[in-house]
Amino acid sequence: METVVSGIRPTGQLHIGNYFGALRNFIKMQYDARCLFFIADYHALTTHPDPKSLRENVRSVLVEYLAAGLDPNVATIYVQSDVPQVAELQLLLSMHAYLGELERTPSFKEKARKQPDNVNAGLLCYPVLMAADILLHRADKVPVGKDQGQHLEMTRVFARRFNTIYNTDLFPESQAYNFGAELTKIPGLDGSGKMGKSEGNCLFLRDTDDVIRKKVMRATTDTGPTLPDSPVSEPVENLFTIMKSVSAPETLSQFQKAYADCSIRYGDLKKQLAEDIVASVAPIRERILEIESNPEYLKQVLGDGAAAARRSADETMCRVRELMGLC
Ligand code: TRP
Repeated sequence: METVVSGIRPTGQLHIGNYFGALRNFIKMQYDARCLFFIADYHALTTHPDPKSLRENVRSVLVEYLAAGLDPNVATIYVQSDVPQVAELQLLLSMHAYLGELERTPSFKEKARKQPDNVNAGLLCYPVLMAADILLHRADKVPVGKDQGQHLEMTRVFARRFNTIYNTDLFPESQAYNFGAELTKIPGLDGSGKMGKSEGNCLFLRDTDDVIRKKVMRATTDTGPTLPDSPVSEPVENLFTIMKSVSAPETLSQFQKAYADCSIRYGDLKKQLAEDIVASVAPIRERILEIESNPEYLKQVLGDGAAAARRSADETMCRVRELMGLC
C-alpha cells in the first residue's frame, strides 16, 4: 500500500475552501492508502512564534479535521512536535543540505522579504524539516498545493543525496500529488480568485448560520446582465463556482439559465447559495462543538496518533542512525 503524508501549518481557522478543496480529498484518500496527516507546529514557529495562539491553533485545526471526517481509526493524525524524531532527522539531513540551495529557495526569499527582522535559521531550514516530515515515513505521495512543488523537489534532492552518500535505497522519491480535476478551487466572496483568510472573502467552518448568510448576502456581484447570453463577470462566476460545490445541479443550472435570459435576481441567488452552504457547513460546525466539549477524546486521539507516528518514525530512524554511523 502506498504511504501518503501531508502537513498543515496551524495558522488559523479552516474555511470552506480548505474543506471543499484538499480536505474532502484527504477524507476519501484515507481509505485507499496508508495516510499520515499532521499539524506542522514546528513549521508554524518559523513565522508565528506566539505560544498561546500556537496552542489554540493546533487544537482548533485538529478539531476541525476530525469534525470534517478524518477518521483517527483509519488515518494517523498527529501533531508534529509529538514526534521529536522528525527534529532528529531534520538535524541529520541538514548535514547534507547546502547553504546556497537553502538561500535560493523561493519560499525562503519571500518570507525573508516579509519578515526582515526575523530571518531565522528555522526559516532557512524549513525545506529540510519538511523533507524530514515526508521521509520520516518514507512517503510515496504528498498531496500539496502547487506552491509546495519546490519543497517536494528539494525533498527528492535530499533523499537522492542521502541514498547516494550512504549507498542505500532507504528513501523513496516522494511525489507531489495534485488532486487534479478532483480539486475544487473555491473562490472568494469579494470577487477575488481564491478564498483566503482575509475578512470579507472567507467563510469559516465555524461560522454560524447567520454569519454565513450575512457574508453571502454581502458578496460582490455586478450590475446584472442586460443582454441575453452576455459573458459572466468574475464575481458572479465565483458564486456559481461555490454553488457547484454545495447546491443541487438543477439549482445551479436554473440560476445560470436565469442569468442567460437576464431574469436573474442576485438577491435570490445569494439566498439560495447561503442556505445550501449552511446545509453543508452546519453539521460540521456541530461536530466541531461536540468534539471540542470532549477533551478526553481529543487527548486519546492525540496520544494514539503520536504513538503510531512514532512507531513509523522509529523504523526509519533506526536505519538512518545505523547508516550514518551513529549506533
Ligand atoms: N509547507 C506546507 C505548507 O505550507 C506544510 C507542510 C509542512 C507539509 N510539512 C509538510 C506539507 C510535509 C506536506 C508534507 O502548506
